[in-house]
Amino acid sequence: MPLLSLANVTKAYGGVPALRGVELAVGPGEIHALMGENGAGKSTLIKILAGVVAPDTAEIRLEGTPARIDSPRQAHRLGLRFIHQEFNVVPALSVAENIFLGRAYPRRAGAFVDWRRLNLAARETLGKLGITHIDPSWSLGSLTLGDQMLVRISSAFIGEEGAPARLYVLDEPTAALNRGEAERLFTVLRELRATGASVLYVSHRLDEVMATCDMATVIRDGRSVDTGKIADITHDDLVSLMIGRRVEEAYPPATAAPRSETVLSVTHLAIRGGRPVSFDVRAGEVLGIAGLENAGQRNLLRTLFGDLNCAGGTMRLTGQPFRPRNPTDAWRAGVSYIPRERRSEGLIVSRPIFENVTLPHLSAQSRWRALLTPRREMRLAAEQGQRVRLKAAGPRQRVRELSGGNQQKVVFAKALAGQPRLMLLDEPTRGVDVGAKFDIYALIREMTARGMGVVLASSDLPELIGMADRIAVMREGAITDIVAAEEIDEERLVNLCYGRVTG
Ligand SMILES: Nc1ncnc2c1ncn2[C@@H]1O[C@H](COP(=O)(O)OP(=O)(O)OP(=O)(O)O)[C@@H](O)[C@H]1O
Ligand SMILES: [Mg+2]
Repeated sequence: MPLLSLANVTKAYGGVPALRGVELAVGPGEIHALMGENGAGKSTLIKILAGVVAPDTAEIRLEGTPARIDSPRQAHRLGLRFIHQEFNVVPALSVAENIFLGRAYPRRAGAFVDWRRLNLAARETLGKLGITHIDPSWSLGSLTLGDQMLVRISSAFIGEEGAPARLYVLDEPTAALNRGEAERLFTVLRELRATGASVLYVSHRLDEVMATCDMATVIRDGRSVDTGKIADITHDDLVSLMIGRRVEEAYPPATAAPRSETVLSVTHLAIRGGRPVSFDVRAGEVLGIAGLENAGQRNLLRTLFGDLNCAGGTMRLTGQPFRPRNPTDAWRAGVSYIPRERRSEGLIVSRPIFENVTLPHLSAQSRWRALLTPRREMRLAAEQGQRVRLKAAGPRQRVRELSGGNQQKVVFAKALAGQPRLMLLDEPTRGVDVGAKFDIYALIREMTARGMGVVLASSDLPELIGMADRIAVMREGAITDIVAAEEIDEERLVNLCYGRVTG
């Protein structure tokens, strides 16, 4: 008998169906992948199970017994634990406070929070994920994104009285994790499985799903498409079930070689916490940036975008001296930036799509203000949305109502609407589905074909090798090598990132 079974789950938002009769059965002691492209309905299904969203119809059974879940408390009491896709943390609070967010803190004499016990309990919870490098008393905001995610994940594993956890539901937990951190999480998931608990797991990283999950259920456009054992399906078949067509697992080839003009030229540029770097990006070129987590990639991009001030060195953009004091300066000069944490850094989620797409252009390029009538504004937003294959009801829809992957596409639409000369991309394909990944690669090719220069920082090494012309390797805040992408393979690139010399 399945541990959890869902049948006939439907949900419409304002008349638009998000789920149209989904079925799902998770057995005991299994890691079950829930797969589907951006906007398929995965998070909606999970929120229904968590008692966060009310379904229109749903039959939920736990070990055969019909269950009603109309609040998060109730889901918790039934032994269900959730890590949702959206960040739900308070950066100003400590790690320990965030772990226990929304739960009873240990108290002393009934009223005062017992901080010592709270920190001890937090340390113990982190310990379950093998995390010892994070002090529970630190403020969460001071941690790297990966560490913040680990803290969030660990909150699902709080040891507690009451109903023991039987099912852990994780909605894209690894989107902000590096390989090592993700491996640590998988080890914990396997341990949980060994104790008989089950895991429902959402990820767009197929290799991870193939390696870690036992079963998979695929949904498309709010309907269940298929379910079965991971061992019985190939990677390619899984992809075609998800997106309803076959994709060539290849990076689109460049249509032309980079041109001779230089778009960006950087000489002895001082970056925060690093050493001076020098490099060029030519028109039509993709310069990849490789490196281990926190090797300086992010600060480099932020310096180029004027988000961090550069303390020395020179930059030239199409030959002109370029020294942005803030992101608006950089925008004006023709530089677009797609930050890694798109939802928090790149969007105003309470506002409609069209405002998010056109707003930076209205404020950065005052001469546009007169040109941008509401009709043009709407058309620009719709055009850019189509370019990135945005799945939305229309340009007036609020960004908050979009699926996670589609929110990211809004950031792309916004970046492209400015017709930049240089595009800075920080992990552009994190959290996007396989189909959308290829759309993004095609967009990058389209940008370079038009003579744009692209800087692509990515931890996905095949992606760097497949898309970049040259790859700059960063280590401890410095560029240690610049190699032609054609002449390198994954293994050598890894070795360069670690600073291991190869023959
Ligand atoms: N609050 C809401 N209001 C209106 N529409 C919504 C709302 N939440 C979700 N939707 C819509 O429901 C559909 C399913 O979204 P959902 O977030 O479940 O997708 P997903 O499979 O999790 O995608 P992703 O992989 O991008 O996270 C989308 O079309 C989305 O726009
Ligand atoms: Mg989602």
